[in-house]
Amino acid sequence: MAERASAPAPAKVNLFLHVLAREESGYHGLESLFCALSLADTVTVRRGGPGVRLVVEGGVDTGPPERNLAMRAAEAFHGRTGVPAAVDVELVKRIPAQAGMGGGSSDAAAVLRALNALHGEPLDRAALLQLAIELGSDVPFFLCGSALALGWSRGERLLPLPPLPARPVLIAHPGVAMPTPDAFRVIAERRGGGYTPRARALSLDRLDSWDAVAETAENDFQPVVEERIPFVGLAAAAMRTSGARIALMAGSGSSVFGVFDSADERDDAAERIRGLRMKVWAASTAQAEPVAEVDAE
Ligand code: C5P
Repeated sequence: MAERASAPAPAKVNLFLHVLAREESGYHGLESLFCALSLADTVTVRRGGPGVRLVVEGGVDTGPPERNLAMRAAEAFHGRTGVPAAVDVELVKRIPAQAGMGGGSSDAAAVLRALNALHGEPLDRAALLQLAIELGSDVPFFLCGSALALGWSRGERLLPLPPLPARPVLIAHPGVAMPTPDAFRVIAERRGGGYTPRARALSLDRLDSWDAVAETAENDFQPVVEERIPFVGLAAAAMRTSGARIALMAGSGSSVFGVFDSADERDDAAERIRGLRMKVWAASTAQAEPVAEVDAE
Protein backbone atom coordinates (compact mmCIF):
# COMPACT_ATOMS: atom_id res chain seq x y z
CA MET A 1 0.00 0.00 0.00
CA ALA A 2 1.35 3.42 -0.92
CA GLU A 3 2.27 5.49 2.13
CA ARG A 4 2.97 8.83 0.56
CA ALA A 5 2.17 10.96 -2.50
CA SER A 6 3.70 14.26 -3.58
CA ALA A 7 2.64 16.84 -6.11
CA PRO A 8 4.17 20.16 -7.17
CA ALA A 9 1.95 23.19 -6.63
CA PRO A 10 2.94 25.92 -9.10
CA ALA A 11 2.17 29.63 -8.73
CA LYS A 12 0.09 31.41 -11.37
CA VAL A 13 -0.25 34.87 -12.77
CA ASN A 14 -3.10 36.25 -14.85
CA LEU A 15 -1.94 37.56 -18.22
CA PHE A 16 -5.25 39.38 -18.34
CA LEU A 17 -7.94 39.59 -15.70
CA HIS A 18 -11.31 41.19 -16.39
CA VAL A 19 -13.86 41.67 -13.64
CA LEU A 20 -17.27 41.32 -15.29
CA ALA A 21 -20.77 42.07 -13.98
CA ARG A 22 -21.82 41.52 -10.37
CA GLU A 23 -24.25 38.63 -10.12
CA GLU A 24 -27.25 38.48 -7.79
CA SER A 25 -25.17 36.28 -5.48
CA GLY A 26 -22.88 39.28 -4.94
CA TYR A 27 -20.05 37.57 -6.78
CA HIS A 28 -18.50 38.96 -9.94
CA GLY A 29 -17.97 36.98 -13.09
CA LEU A 30 -14.34 36.84 -14.16
CA GLU A 31 -12.57 36.36 -17.47
CA SER A 32 -8.90 35.56 -17.33
CA LEU A 33 -5.86 34.08 -19.02
CA PHE A 34 -4.10 31.96 -16.38
CA CYS A 35 -0.40 31.16 -16.73
CA ALA A 36 1.47 28.79 -14.38
CA LEU A 37 5.01 29.59 -13.25
CA SER A 38 8.07 27.49 -12.42
CA LEU A 39 7.93 28.88 -8.86
CA ALA A 40 6.14 26.14 -6.91
CA ASP A 41 5.36 24.80 -3.47
CA THR A 42 5.71 21.06 -2.85
CA VAL A 43 2.79 19.21 -1.29
CA THR A 44 3.19 15.77 0.30
CA VAL A 45 0.44 13.70 1.87
CA ARG A 46 1.38 10.80 4.20
CA ARG A 47 -0.76 8.25 5.91
CA GLY A 48 -0.89 9.38 9.55
CA GLY A 49 -3.73 10.65 11.63
CA PRO A 50 -6.20 10.25 13.02
CA GLY A 51 -7.70 13.30 11.33
CA VAL A 52 -5.90 15.79 9.10
CA ARG A 53 -2.69 17.39 10.38
CA LEU A 54 -1.00 20.29 8.57
CA VAL A 55 2.77 20.83 8.62
CA VAL A 56 4.10 23.99 6.94
CA GLU A 57 7.76 24.60 6.10
CA GLY A 58 9.36 27.54 4.37
CA GLY A 59 8.66 30.55 6.57
CA VAL A 60 5.66 31.81 4.56
CA ASP A 61 2.73 32.91 6.75
CA THR A 62 -0.15 30.66 5.71
CA GLY A 63 -2.56 31.77 8.46
CA PRO A 64 -4.52 29.59 10.89
CA PRO A 65 -4.61 25.87 9.86
CA GLU A 66 -8.41 25.62 9.97
CA ARG A 67 -8.66 28.33 7.30
CA ASN A 68 -5.83 26.92 5.21
CA LEU A 69 -7.14 25.81 1.81
CA ALA A 70 -4.85 22.75 1.70
CA MET A 71 -6.29 21.58 5.00
CA ARG A 72 -9.83 22.27 3.78
CA ALA A 73 -9.11 20.39 0.55
CA ALA A 74 -8.00 17.30 2.53
CA GLU A 75 -11.12 17.48 4.71
CA ALA A 76 -13.33 17.91 1.64
CA PHE A 77 -11.68 14.93 -0.10
CA HIS A 78 -12.28 12.66 2.89
CA GLY A 79 -15.83 13.97 3.32
CA ARG A 80 -16.66 13.33 -0.33
CA THR A 81 -15.01 9.90 -0.66
CA GLY A 82 -15.85 8.51 2.78
CA VAL A 83 -12.20 7.41 3.13
CA PRO A 84 -11.51 7.96 6.87
CA ALA A 85 -9.26 11.00 7.37
CA ALA A 86 -5.87 9.87 8.63
CA VAL A 87 -3.30 12.02 6.90
CA ASP A 88 -0.43 14.43 7.43
CA VAL A 89 -0.35 17.21 4.82
CA GLU A 90 3.09 18.75 4.44
CA LEU A 91 3.53 22.02 2.54
CA VAL A 92 6.96 23.26 1.56
CA LYS A 93 6.06 26.89 0.81
CA ARG A 94 7.93 28.96 -1.74
CA ILE A 95 5.08 30.99 -3.26
CA PRO A 96 4.63 34.28 -1.38
CA ALA A 97 1.36 34.71 0.53
CA GLN A 98 -1.14 37.51 -0.19
CA ALA A 99 0.43 37.90 -3.57
CA GLY A 100 -2.39 37.09 -6.01
CA MET A 101 -0.35 34.12 -7.21
CA GLY A 102 -2.76 31.43 -6.06
CA GLY A 103 -0.42 29.76 -3.57
CA GLY A 104 -3.18 28.50 -1.27
CA SER A 105 -5.37 27.40 -4.19
CA SER A 106 -2.49 25.57 -5.85
CA ASP A 107 -1.67 23.75 -2.61
CA ALA A 108 -5.35 22.75 -2.37
CA ALA A 109 -5.38 21.36 -5.94
CA ALA A 110 -2.15 19.47 -5.26
CA VAL A 111 -3.66 17.97 -2.09
CA LEU A 112 -6.66 16.76 -4.12
CA ARG A 113 -4.40 15.19 -6.76
CA ALA A 114 -2.05 13.64 -4.22
CA LEU A 115 -4.79 12.20 -1.98
CA ASN A 116 -6.62 10.83 -5.00
CA ALA A 117 -3.39 9.15 -6.18
CA LEU A 118 -2.62 7.80 -2.68
CA HIS A 119 -6.03 6.18 -2.40
CA GLY A 120 -6.15 4.63 -5.89
CA GLU A 121 -8.16 7.32 -7.70
CA PRO A 122 -11.55 7.06 -5.96
CA LEU A 123 -12.69 10.34 -7.61
CA ASP A 124 -12.85 10.89 -11.36
CA ARG A 125 -11.89 14.22 -12.97
CA ALA A 126 -15.42 15.60 -12.85
CA ALA A 127 -15.76 14.86 -9.12
CA LEU A 128 -12.35 16.41 -8.41
CA LEU A 129 -13.31 19.49 -10.41
CA GLN A 130 -16.51 19.85 -8.41
CA LEU A 131 -14.51 19.77 -5.16
CA ALA A 132 -12.08 22.32 -6.63
CA ILE A 133 -14.89 24.76 -7.49
CA GLU A 134 -16.28 24.49 -3.97
CA LEU A 135 -12.85 25.31 -2.51
CA GLY A 136 -12.22 28.52 -4.45
CA SER A 137 -11.97 30.37 -7.75
CA ASP A 138 -8.36 29.56 -8.65
CA VAL A 139 -8.42 25.88 -7.63
CA PRO A 140 -9.95 24.55 -10.90
CA PHE A 141 -7.12 26.09 -12.97
CA PHE A 142 -4.48 24.36 -10.87
CA LEU A 143 -6.40 21.11 -10.99
CA CYS A 144 -6.78 21.22 -14.77
CA GLY A 145 -3.00 20.90 -14.99
CA SER A 146 -2.54 23.02 -18.11
CA ALA A 147 0.22 25.63 -17.89
CA LEU A 148 -1.95 28.10 -19.83
CA ALA A 149 -5.75 28.33 -19.83
CA LEU A 150 -8.57 30.74 -20.42
CA GLY A 151 -11.01 30.82 -17.52
CA TRP A 152 -14.48 32.30 -17.09
CA SER A 153 -17.21 32.69 -14.53
CA ARG A 154 -15.67 32.02 -11.10
CA GLY A 155 -12.73 30.33 -12.82
CA GLU A 156 -14.39 26.95 -13.17
CA ARG A 157 -15.03 27.16 -16.91
CA LEU A 158 -11.65 26.51 -18.42
CA LEU A 159 -10.23 26.16 -21.86
CA PRO A 160 -6.70 24.68 -21.66
CA LEU A 161 -4.35 26.18 -24.26
CA PRO A 162 -0.94 25.09 -25.57
CA PRO A 163 1.75 26.75 -23.42
CA LEU A 164 3.69 29.70 -24.79
CA PRO A 165 7.49 29.41 -25.06
CA ALA A 166 9.06 29.69 -21.58
CA ARG A 167 10.07 33.25 -20.67
CA PRO A 168 11.96 34.65 -17.67
CA VAL A 169 9.66 36.14 -15.04
CA LEU A 170 10.30 38.44 -12.10
CA ILE A 171 7.94 38.70 -9.14
CA ALA A 172 8.01 41.68 -6.77
CA HIS A 173 6.00 41.96 -3.57
CA PRO A 174 5.46 45.26 -1.73
CA GLY A 175 4.99 43.50 1.64
CA VAL A 176 1.43 44.72 2.12
CA ALA A 177 -1.81 43.65 0.43
CA MET A 178 -5.39 44.81 -0.05
CA PRO A 179 -7.97 42.15 0.92
CA THR A 180 -9.65 40.73 -2.20
CA PRO A 181 -13.24 41.47 -1.00
CA ASP A 182 -12.22 45.15 -0.54
CA ALA A 183 -10.90 45.31 -4.09
CA PHE A 184 -14.14 43.82 -5.47
CA ARG A 185 -16.16 46.27 -3.35
CA VAL A 186 -14.29 49.32 -4.65
CA ILE A 187 -14.76 48.14 -8.24
CA ALA A 188 -18.51 47.62 -7.63
CA GLU A 189 -18.84 51.06 -5.95
CA ARG A 190 -17.11 52.82 -8.83
CA ARG A 191 -19.43 51.15 -11.27
CA GLY A 192 -22.37 52.44 -9.24
CA GLY A 193 -24.41 49.28 -9.75
CA GLY A 194 -24.40 49.54 -13.55
CA TYR A 195 -21.85 47.81 -15.71
CA THR A 196 -21.71 47.62 -19.46
CA PRO A 197 -19.05 45.19 -20.59
CA ARG A 198 -16.70 46.49 -23.22
CA ALA A 199 -17.08 44.64 -26.50
CA ARG A 200 -13.73 42.89 -26.61
CA ALA A 201 -12.71 40.43 -29.27
CA LEU A 202 -11.22 37.29 -27.77
CA SER A 203 -9.71 35.29 -30.55
CA LEU A 204 -7.62 32.19 -29.87
CA ASP A 205 -5.19 33.06 -32.64
CA ARG A 206 -4.36 36.18 -30.61
CA LEU A 207 -3.24 34.03 -27.69
CA ASP A 208 -0.54 32.02 -29.41
CA SER A 209 2.46 34.36 -29.10
CA TRP A 210 3.90 36.61 -26.41
CA ASP A 211 3.56 39.58 -28.80
CA ALA A 212 -0.17 39.02 -29.13
CA VAL A 213 -0.71 38.27 -25.43
CA ALA A 214 1.21 41.42 -24.46
CA GLU A 215 -1.35 43.48 -26.40
CA THR A 216 -4.22 42.21 -24.26
CA ALA A 217 -2.40 42.29 -20.90
CA GLU A 218 -4.42 44.21 -18.30
CA ASN A 219 -5.82 43.64 -14.85
CA ASP A 220 -9.02 45.38 -13.69
CA PHE A 221 -7.89 45.15 -10.06
CA GLN A 222 -4.65 46.99 -10.68
CA PRO A 223 -5.83 50.64 -10.70
CA VAL A 224 -7.79 50.03 -7.49
CA VAL A 225 -4.93 48.35 -5.62
CA GLU A 226 -2.31 50.73 -7.01
CA GLU A 227 -4.12 53.70 -5.48
CA ARG A 228 -3.76 52.14 -2.06
CA ILE A 229 -0.34 50.54 -2.59
CA PRO A 230 1.76 52.82 -4.84
CA PHE A 231 4.62 50.29 -4.86
CA VAL A 232 2.53 48.24 -7.30
CA GLY A 233 2.78 50.98 -9.92
CA LEU A 234 6.43 51.67 -9.13
CA ALA A 235 7.39 48.00 -9.53
CA ALA A 236 5.52 47.70 -12.83
CA ALA A 237 7.19 50.87 -14.14
CA ALA A 238 10.64 49.61 -13.11
CA MET A 239 10.03 46.33 -14.91
CA ARG A 240 8.98 48.15 -18.07
CA THR A 241 12.09 50.35 -17.91
CA SER A 242 14.19 47.18 -17.85
CA GLY A 243 12.43 45.84 -20.95
CA ALA A 244 9.49 43.77 -19.64
CA ARG A 245 7.00 42.91 -22.38
CA ILE A 246 4.30 42.52 -19.75
CA ALA A 247 4.40 44.16 -16.31
CA LEU A 248 1.18 43.68 -14.39
CA MET A 249 -0.22 43.03 -10.97
CA ALA A 250 -0.93 39.32 -10.28
CA GLY A 251 -4.56 38.44 -9.52
CA SER A 252 -6.05 40.77 -6.92
CA GLY A 253 -2.52 41.65 -5.79
CA SER A 254 -0.41 42.73 -4.42
CA SER A 255 2.56 41.15 -6.17
CA VAL A 256 3.65 42.44 -9.57
CA PHE A 257 5.11 40.23 -12.27
CA GLY A 258 7.15 41.00 -15.34
CA VAL A 259 7.62 38.76 -18.39
CA PHE A 260 10.99 39.34 -20.09
CA ASP A 261 12.74 38.19 -23.26
CA SER A 262 16.03 37.61 -21.47
CA ALA A 263 17.32 36.74 -18.01
CA ASP A 264 19.62 39.81 -18.25
CA GLU A 265 16.60 42.13 -18.53
CA ARG A 266 14.95 40.34 -15.63
CA ASP A 267 18.07 40.66 -13.48
CA ASP A 268 18.29 44.36 -14.33
CA ALA A 269 14.67 44.80 -13.18
CA ALA A 270 15.42 42.84 -9.98
CA GLU A 271 18.25 45.25 -9.18
CA ARG A 272 15.99 48.31 -9.67
CA ILE A 273 13.22 46.85 -7.56
CA ARG A 274 15.53 45.82 -4.72
CA GLY A 275 16.46 49.52 -4.73
CA LEU A 276 12.78 50.23 -3.94
CA ARG A 277 13.16 47.86 -0.95
CA MET A 278 10.76 45.29 -2.32
CA LYS A 279 11.33 41.53 -2.20
CA VAL A 280 11.85 39.83 -5.56
CA TRP A 281 11.72 36.25 -6.87
CA ALA A 282 13.10 34.99 -10.20
CA ALA A 283 11.07 32.38 -12.07
CA SER A 284 9.91 31.50 -15.56
CA THR A 285 6.61 30.70 -17.18
CA ALA A 286 5.78 27.00 -16.90
CA GLN A 287 5.31 24.55 -19.72
CA ALA A 288 4.81 21.11 -18.21
CA GLU A 289 1.78 19.68 -16.50
CA PRO A 290 2.42 18.92 -12.79
CA VAL A 291 2.09 15.22 -11.99
CA ALA A 292 1.39 13.60 -8.62
CA GLU A 293 3.98 10.96 -7.67
CA VAL A 294 3.04 8.09 -5.42
CA ASP A 295 5.66 6.17 -3.45
CA ALA A 296 4.70 2.53 -3.23
CA GLU A 297 6.07 0.93 -0.07
O1 C5P B 1 -14.25 33.77 -2.68
P1 C5P B 1 -14.50 34.45 -1.37
O2 C5P B 1 -15.79 34.00 -0.73
O3 C5P B 1 -13.32 34.41 -0.45
O4 C5P B 1 -14.73 35.99 -1.75
C1 C5P B 1 -14.88 36.96 -0.76
C2 C5P B 1 -15.72 38.13 -1.30
O5 C5P B 1 -15.12 38.67 -2.48
C3 C5P B 1 -17.13 37.73 -1.72
O6 C5P B 1 -18.01 37.76 -0.64
C4 C5P B 1 -17.47 38.78 -2.77
O7 C5P B 1 -17.89 39.97 -2.15
C5 C5P B 1 -16.12 39.04 -3.42
N1 C5P B 1 -15.98 38.27 -4.66
C6 C5P B 1 -16.65 38.71 -5.79
N2 C5P B 1 -16.53 38.00 -6.96
C7 C5P B 1 -15.78 36.89 -7.03
C8 C5P B 1 -15.08 36.43 -5.91
C9 C5P B 1 -15.21 37.16 -4.72
O8 C5P B 1 -17.33 39.73 -5.76
N3 C5P B 1 -15.68 36.23 -8.20
